[in-house]
Amino acid sequence: MASLKGLILAGGKGTRLRPITHTNAKQLVPVANKPVLFYGIEAIAAAGITEIGVIVSPETGPEIREVAGDGSRFGVHLEYIPQAEPLGLAHAVLTAEPFLGADPFVMYLGDNLLQGGITQLVQEFQEHSPDALILLTAVPDPENYGVAELADTTDGQPPRVVRLVEKPTQPASDLALVGVYMFTAAIHDAARALVPSARGELEITDAIQHLVDGGARVESHIVRGWWKDTGRLEDMLEANRLILDTLPGGVQGELVDSHLEGRVTVEAGALLEHSTVRGPAVIGAGATVRHCYVGPYTAIGDKCVIEHAELEHSILLSGSSVRNLDGRIESSLLGRNVTLRRSERQPRAYRFLVGDNSDIAMP
Ligand code: DAU
Repeated sequence: MASLKGLILAGGKGTRLRPITHTNAKQLVPVANKPVLFYGIEAIAAAGITEIGVIVSPETGPEIREVAGDGSRFGVHLEYIPQAEPLGLAHAVLTAEPFLGADPFVMYLGDNLLQGGITQLVQEFQEHSPDALILLTAVPDPENYGVAELADTTDGQPPRVVRLVEKPTQPASDLALVGVYMFTAAIHDAARALVPSARGELEITDAIQHLVDGGARVESHIVRGWWKDTGRLEDMLEANRLILDTLPGGVQGELVDSHLEGRVTVEAGALLEHSTVRGPAVIGAGATVRHCYVGPYTAIGDKCVIEHAELEHSILLSGSSVRNLDGRIESSLLGRNVTLRRSERQPRAYRFLVGDNSDIAMP
């Protein structure tokens, strides 16, 4: 087989994670203090693929380039491919055609996380040489995904892919398409044959259906480990929980009169004073935590300052501060440089400076 390439889709709009993604790429929102995009790059690199195209939008492309660089730190070469408008996953494939050429490739959605990586799947793809290999997993809400219908075969072969429908109102099964796909160059003609869907996009789901209809061999693989599309807040928190659960912990920063329970990562330059942190949790580089309780499944970003506060099951992006709060913060996502504090001003009242589409819940 010709050399396998990688294609990461890191364009799109990111509307569901607003306001966090108003100005920042959703693929750069950190999970356990690492941009979600990096997990995809690392998974592709671990499978031995070194030529990776990254689809980016005009708005967030420069930021992604700056953060991910040329790929050398991952041991790969990243080629940035601008997509002028987010016209769909199949449109992204066509945009990348000059980079991909006739080579087979792994396509990885830049906001997806897949436990266990893709190394074994890449091997399977190379050994079986199908025209396409899709990954599926059972989900409780298939209407939010591309959904596959399979049919049993009589000859002992794995089930056949019969039909694929993008976000069906009446799903035929609970098998969602996971955002990792393996394609041969046959996908380009399939994508070219499409018309935009009801949401105005060229759907990769429809392109694969086109392959199936044309008699191509489309294999499916049921994912056994966990998989997360981090497009929504609750998914982001869940992904954070799942990744934190895998970290060994370790202290590089400084502890003063503080107590760590379970697996806690304290990054370089972080300072903990008179605090208790119950893992799994990560405290980012240069962060300060004083007189606090930090509970399980919390990721505190670089240079955050937390004083006289309690928080758990939350993600704080870099530079945020939380001071002198009553009560505990939980299941929350704070963007960059957010300030939350008790004010001594009279009258005692809530005072906000909050961006568009923010969501604040108070007891
Ligand atoms: O997460 C799995 C799901 O991903 C699949 O089950 C669906 O079949 C598939 O269509 C896709 O659905 P989403 O609606 O979640 O896709 P989203 O718009 O979130 O885009 C996925 C990634 O691709 C995201 O990182 C943004 C990027 N993207 C998206 C579009 C529409 C691009 O780079 N260019 C685009 O034009």
